[in-house]
This record gives sequence, C-alpha cells and structure tokens, in this order.
Amino acid sequence: MDSFLIEGGLPLNGEVTISGSKNAVLPILAATLLTSETCIIRRVPDLSDVGFMLKILQSLGAEVTQDGSTLTIRAANISGRGDYELIRKMRGSICILGPLLARLKEAVVSLPGGCVIGTRPIDLHLKGLRGLGAQVEVEAGYVRVHASRLEGQMIFLGGRVGPTVLGTANLMMAATLASGITVIESAACEPEVVDLAGLLIAMGAKVRGAGTPTITIVGVDRLHGADYAVIPDRIEAGTFLLAAAITRSHLRISPVIPEHLGAVITKLEEAGCTIQHDGIGLTVKADRITAVDLRTQPFPGFPTDLQAPFMSLLATAQGTSVITENIFENRLQHVAELQRMGAAIRMQGNTAFVEGVSRLSGAPVQGSDLRASAAMVLAGLAADGITTVQGLEFLDRGYADFEGKLNAVGASIRR
Ligand code: EPU
Repeated sequence: MDSFLIEGGLPLNGEVTISGSKNAVLPILAATLLTSETCIIRRVPDLSDVGFMLKILQSLGAEVTQDGSTLTIRAANISGRGDYELIRKMRGSICILGPLLARLKEAVVSLPGGCVIGTRPIDLHLKGLRGLGAQVEVEAGYVRVHASRLEGQMIFLGGRVGPTVLGTANLMMAATLASGITVIESAACEPEVVDLAGLLIAMGAKVRGAGTPTITIVGVDRLHGADYAVIPDRIEAGTFLLAAAITRSHLRISPVIPEHLGAVITKLEEAGCTIQHDGIGLTVKADRITAVDLRTQPFPGFPTDLQAPFMSLLATAQGTSVITENIFENRLQHVAELQRMGAAIRMQGNTAFVEGVSRLSGAPVQGSDLRASAAMVLAGLAADGITTVQGLEFLDRGYADFEGKLNAVGASIRR
C-alpha cells in the first residue's frame, strides 16, 4: 500500500491549479444515463472515484472516451442492472438510481455499505423515489426500484440532520422525466446540486430553484445531449488555502468560485489569514494563526469535508478552538492521529477542544478517510521532522495529483 513521506517545516509559495469538483462530477456522470445522445463533460478531475464511476457507466452499456480532462459519454443502449462489486465499492454510485429509474423505469443496484465516517443510510433517496410513485424493494444486498410511470409530487426530503446532497441529486434526476411537476422541499443547497441542475437544464430539463431549499422540476418527455464544464472543487480549494495557512505561507489558487467558500474564507480570516479575490483566483497569506470555533453545517454553513483539514490548522493556532461535527456521526477519527503528532485535543461527544501547540512533530500516521488523509498531509507539512501518511487509497479518491501540486509550490512529499 502506498504511503507519503513528508519532510515538514518548508514554506510554500506559488500558484496552484484547482481541478473540477469530485462531488459535482459524480452525479453529473450519472446524469448522462438520462439520454441516449452524446454528452461531453469537461474539467473532469483525474481521481480514482471518477475511474470507478466510468467503469460503472460502462458496465451498464455506456460508451466512454477520454481526451485529457474531457469525457465523451454515450449511453445509447443501457441496462438497469449494475455490477454488484463495482457499485458496492463507492457510495457516490448510489446516484445512478434516479437516472436509471427515469430512463428505464427500473433499476437494480447493490446497496452501498456504511463507511468509516458514519452509517450513511439511503432512506431519504428511497423516500424521494417512492414519492414519484416508484416501488422500492431492498433485498439481499440490492435495492430494486421500478415504476410503470413516474408522477411529479411535492416531496419533503429533510432528514435527521437536514438535507441530503446525493438524495437531492437522485430525486432531481428522476423527476426530470416524470410527468407533471415535482417540488423538492428541504433540498440540499450545495453548489454541487446547482452544478448538476446546470447540466440537466443544458440537456433540456426544466429545473428551477437549485441552490435554494425548494427545487421545482417540470417533467419533460426526453432529454438530449449536452456539452458541460464542471465547477472547480471548493473542497480541494479549501484544502490548499489551509495548506498555505498551516505553513504560514503565501499561495494563489485558481480557478475558484469564492461564493462556494464563504464560510471557509470567513473562518480563515477570523483565524488571522489575509485572503484576496482577483476575479479568477484567491491569494492567501498567513502569518500568525489564532483559535476560532466552528460547527459543520449544510451549505452555506461550514462544510464537513473541511472539518478535519481545518482541525490540523487549529492544532497549531494560538489559543483553544472548539470544533463540532454535526453532519456525520463518526468523522473525528483524525483526532487520535493528530494527537500522535503532539496536538493537544480533548473530545466530548462530537466536539473537539483543540488547544494550539507551537510545533507539531512528525510521526507515522494513518488517514481513515479521504479528508482525514488530507488533514494528515497538512499536519505533516507543518510538523518538525518526517511524517509518513498511510491511507493514500482514500486520498487518491478525491485529490488529483495532491503531492504533485504541493511539491510544485515548495513541499517535499515522496510517495
Ligand atoms: N442521510 C440520511 N439518509 C439518507 C441520506 C443521508 O440520514 O438517505 C444523512 C447522512 O447519514 C448524513 C447527512 O444525512 O448524516 C448528510 O448526508 P448527505 O446525503 O448529504 O451526504 P452524501 O450526499 O452521501 C455528499 C458528499 C460527501 C459530503 C456530504 C455532505 C458526494 C459523493 N459525497 O455525501 O463528500 O461529505 O455530501 O456535504 O457528493 C467527501 O467528499 O469526502 C465526502 C464524504
């Protein structure tokens, strides 16, 4: 298994290019199943999760060709039964359910399991599809959905901790080809949902309100092909802002859409960073970092996906920060690893009290999920001595050429 060897303590300086968004591109790739015509998807990040999703589309019968970061996908003849092993491996694959149901009126997909950050149920996805009139059966590790016709409805999709991002995506895609009007209440407002709506509209769907808690979809008979570019990855961008902050350095990152990073920019500024927007990119300068408190929330609140990387930064701040994880019940496993590097963190339920220390020290550590692995790399960049990070199979799912981008601005990371 690969690991990183990081020599800590080096300042960063220069420019970083941000790739297309992982969490936008996965449902966007699934949406190409809604039409038999050709879709061209641009700014696709080079990630193992994207590779998985393409294998899933191919296993359903889609033709895929790739030219750099541009994909051409044609799902002319597809089946509604996905490969059990492929789908089980990646939670994001659940978003093929909505488009398959809409296009073929039936789908059989293996249930994605829980994962290390929480149990991750799909009850809200299924509630949404049932709301359109689908029959749903969960049996022997599979979920089977079918319907003679799908009919638009008002569907409240809020769950125990608020909206669901991929659940909203699934229902929105299924509703594009339903008859009548679907209104999704308590829809997720994340930029990735807005990006998916952008593609669906380019394919001829009638979608209004994406980015607000109420999304209205007027069903159409068919969708056509489209040519569409994915938004820049706000979580990757946030991770590089944090890389500059934790090394007390100066970086420019682009392209970014600053409105997607409002809560993150605000918290970094509160912590003492200077951040400037020049129309395409953000320049971040960090010198002295002081403690800030944060709570993860659905967008536009502070994103759960940056909670672990932000904790690495606050482990080096002056003062004590209070960090509360509200979205996933088990997303604080990086705490124990940061403690191995000398971080002073006390836990109480889903809250971490992080007392900043003047130096972290290099140690062998393990990333338990994608964002925890990124958090470990950031801590390694700032630590004295050598840090080895295991868990790169998670990191590679969501960061395109992470070490290459960091090394190009002065880091020393060897795989
Ligand atoms: N939930 C339910 N029932 C459902 C669906 C979700 O109770 O049917 C709960 C979840 O257990 C969680 C909360 O609702 O407590 C929010 O989960 P959500 O459905 O929004 O998460 P997701 O759509 O499965 C996406 C991203 C995650 C990101 C979350 C939250 C993708 C592929 N994944 O997951 O990204 O953390 O939204 O913003 O888009 C990551 O990139 O590292 C990552 C985990």
